[in-house]
Amino acid sequence: MSSQELPKTHRALVVHSTDIPPNVETLPTPQPGPGVAIVRILAANVISFMRQIYNGERQYPYPKPLVPGTSAIGRVAAVGPDATSLKPGQLVHVDCLIRGRDDPDNVFLAGIHEGYTEGSKKLMHGEWKDSTYAEYAKVPLETCDVLDEKRLLSPLPEGGLGYEVEELAYISGLLVPFGGLKDIGLQAGETVIVSPATGGFGGAAVLVALAMGARVIAMGRDRAKLEKLREKVGGGRVEVVPMTGDVEADAKSLKKWGEVDAFFDISPPEAAKSTHIKSGILALRKGGRVSLMGGIREDVGVPHGRVMHWNLTLKGKWMYERDDIKSMIKMIEAGVLKVGKSGGLRVVGKFGLEDWDAAFTAAEKNAGMGDSTVIAP
Ligand SMILES: NC(=O)c1ccc[n+]([C@@H]2O[C@H](COP(=O)([O-])OP(=O)(O)OC[C@H]3O[C@@H](n4cnc5c(N)ncnc54)[C@H](OP(=O)(O)O)[C@@H]3O)[C@@H](O)[C@H]2O)c1
Repeated sequence: MSSQELPKTHRALVVHSTDIPPNVETLPTPQPGPGVAIVRILAANVISFMRQIYNGERQYPYPKPLVPGTSAIGRVAAVGPDATSLKPGQLVHVDCLIRGRDDPDNVFLAGIHEGYTEGSKKLMHGEWKDSTYAEYAKVPLETCDVLDEKRLLSPLPEGGLGYEVEELAYISGLLVPFGGLKDIGLQAGETVIVSPATGGFGGAAVLVALAMGARVIAMGRDRAKLEKLREKVGGGRVEVVPMTGDVEADAKSLKKWGEVDAFFDISPPEAAKSTHIKSGILALRKGGRVSLMGGIREDVGVPHGRVMHWNLTLKGKWMYERDDIKSMIKMIEAGVLKVGKSGGLRVVGKFGLEDWDAAFTAAEKNAGMGDSTVIAP
């Protein structure tokens, strides 16, 4: 499709201020240029704390007005003159992580957060401001990963995996914990603590760790939610440990099933005072690894002596690397990691742009393992 075939205008959700609700508006359709793909958005993911991002509660910095959004599944509508493999018509995963082409350390989250460097702010305030809660999105060519549509969408009897397009939007939720788990080299057969495991990204971490061949100890505040999670996953490779606030007792519980190789944290800011990080670190074997992916903004106490004497490795991870996206898509196309009903996962809601408020509520209320919400503009 050439740019002429794109409609002159399209509909997009626009955030003008954190003080007033977003609004659906008609805007000029973005056009392709060098380095650009224009993608018709089919299903854009909604994360559990989307409302807090756009009402200012989270204080995420981003330019306004902004077309919000995040990673999505879409179909390439037009490409710039320098595209060498991406073609109109292809089904793609659009990654919300945009990096400077001349310096990948200038990185930001399209539609969500401008990042922390002058370069990342320049990119989000300029060329790549608007995101995917729109009929069409203008994205960097390299953020589009082509999906094997035949394999993913064809019915099972025809050798496909029988997914719906909106089920594929969960890829972006799985990618976040995959970034951290891969970063600490999680191996098949190892045991990893995921904590807290009952939230959106925590639940995704359980699924990813299992697909990577690990055994999981799911930790959380609510035993009933943990038991439900274990039941849903099945397969006998998930154990659960409720957080009691007693650091030593919880560390002991975590070691009940033998050596623990890794600890993965994905706490929200509200968990800053929770004791689970200390318990998780104390439960590790010598040489164990820690991935800190949580959004805690305060300092957190670390058992320094144990980290030193036990030769532990502590790594922070923000999101994931570009290569991780390709690896994850391979895992999904191979059927090792299931994203649809066959894996016990469900899309709790598919909402139009006008229904953004209901979409944010659905995502907030259904943040558990395998539940996803999409906006289908
Ligand atoms: N590093 C990165 O790249 C990256 C990327 C995305 C997100 N994050 C961070 O990850 C955090 C979690 O995301 P999410 O989508 O999983 O959030 P979520 O769906 O809101 O889940 C929050 C989880 O934290 C638990 N929790 C809440 N308050 C707690 C407390 N005081 N003590 C212990 N546990 C508590 C909840 O347990 P209950 O079920 O008991 O309520 C639930 O398991 C986000 O807030 C964000 O900051 C980081």
